Amino acid sequence: MIIACYSWGGTVRAIAGSVRGLAGGDIFGIEPAVPCALDYESCLKEAKRDLDALARPKLAGRVPDMEKHGETILGCPNWYSTIPMPVATFLEDCDFSGKTMLPF
Ligand SMILES: Cc1cc2nc3c(=O)[nH]c(=O)nc-3n(C[C@H](O)[C@H](O)[C@H](O)COP(=O)(O)O)c2cc1C
Repeated sequence: MIIACYSWGGTVRAIAGSVRGLAGGDIFGIEPAVPCALDYESCLKEAKRDLDALARPKLAGRVPDMEKHGETILGCPNWYSTIPMPVATFLEDCDFSGKTMLPF
């Protein structure tokens, strides 16, 4: 089982750690190749720009041996009532056919 998570401020990352304590598995951090700005106002602007453009930001890395994982627990924050665009990149980059996805 893989616990994939995107977290800007650390909240989702902390929850992913709790999930791992309960369910086991490996944590994979979804990281954009170009990290989002560290200050909140700039992050809001960048995220809105990427959402409006339906951007698919390049990621810093991929899950090694994704095919060996039968279930994926996927955590991310709510950004503008949807997923952050790096999470869209992750979802489109992996083949989840026939696999179980448990979002939080
Ligand atoms: C760019 C951005 C957009 C956000 N949009 C929303 C939103 O539409 N609705 C909401 O309830 N919270 C929104 N939030 C708040 C985050 O969902 C919330 O703080 C979350 O816990 C952050 O998780 P993290 O600390 O793992 O990054 C937004 C935060 C950011 C940075």
